[in-house]
Amino acid sequence: METTYFNGKYIPKDEVRISPDDRGFLFADGVYEVIRWYDGFFYDINSHLTRLKRSLRELRINWPEADSFPTIAGKLLNFNKLEDQPAMVYLQVTRGQARRSHSFPSPEVPITSYAYSWGFSPDITSIETGIKVMLKEDIRWSRCDIKSVSLLPNTMSFQEACENGLKECIFVRNGNITEGSHSNIFFVSNGTLFTHPESNHILSGVTRKNILRIAQECGIKIREEAMQENRIRFVQEAFITNTSAEVTPVIELGGNTLGDGVPGPVTKIIRKEFYDEIKVLKG
Ligand code: PDD
Repeated sequence: METTYFNGKYIPKDEVRISPDDRGFLFADGVYEVIRWYDGFFYDINSHLTRLKRSLRELRINWPEADSFPTIAGKLLNFNKLEDQPAMVYLQVTRGQARRSHSFPSPEVPITSYAYSWGFSPDITSIETGIKVMLKEDIRWSRCDIKSVSLLPNTMSFQEACENGLKECIFVRNGNITEGSHSNIFFVSNGTLFTHPESNHILSGVTRKNILRIAQECGIKIREEAMQENRIRFVQEAFITNTSAEVTPVIELGGNTLGDGVPGPVTKIIRKEFYDEIKVLKG
């Protein structure tokens, strides 16, 4: 039986009871995090914790247990016997249960918190051979920096990609490429690495941050600048990053083949450095 975390307790998943009045259900009024366990350690859990606390703060959700996220995640792996394999942990925190009203519950009500874990196998084929992705107008709100569970534009767009046989939907806002439905995106143009700067139009990915660091350590020239849609023809390589896809090459973007249509050399160097770092961390 799968053990989950629910409001301070570790209980079987089928005993979790969330009220229909929960603001997560009624308004998507909540935040989430997804962390990766590399059979031995959680990848950069401090950055995930910092981002969780920032998302909570931005939405003015006061969850006093936030600092125990790493402990919760560790206990879930333990209860579910996942410690010796690659795994993921999902955590969601909502503003709690209250009669439906657009204003926040007053006085405050207890926060709803829920987390679960699962054994994870990465999509090795995509990581090795690269993916084809679509391009689409960024239909999301202007606070994409908050890891909110309000993901309808993301899920609608990703579904569209899937139905077209593509592996991600990349958003374009005012001619600038922002990020994917559930990933950040990087471009290589004449040896320089480009990615959208941190702003309210992208989520500051934990993988993004670490890839920028790794690229810098490799001596690769970096520009945190948005790639314009009309400059895609000058791009030789692209890759997406997130907690599950790590560094996944993009070989076709909005119908344009990038470079030779295979993962490019800069992408491969960065991906290798990323895996080398994981190996070192595993010890
Ligand atoms: N998504 N941008 C968006 C919109 C995302 O949803 C994600 C992650 C990222 C990459 O963030 P990170 O490197 O910290 O995983 C960027 C997660 C994986 C998800 O929704 O499942």
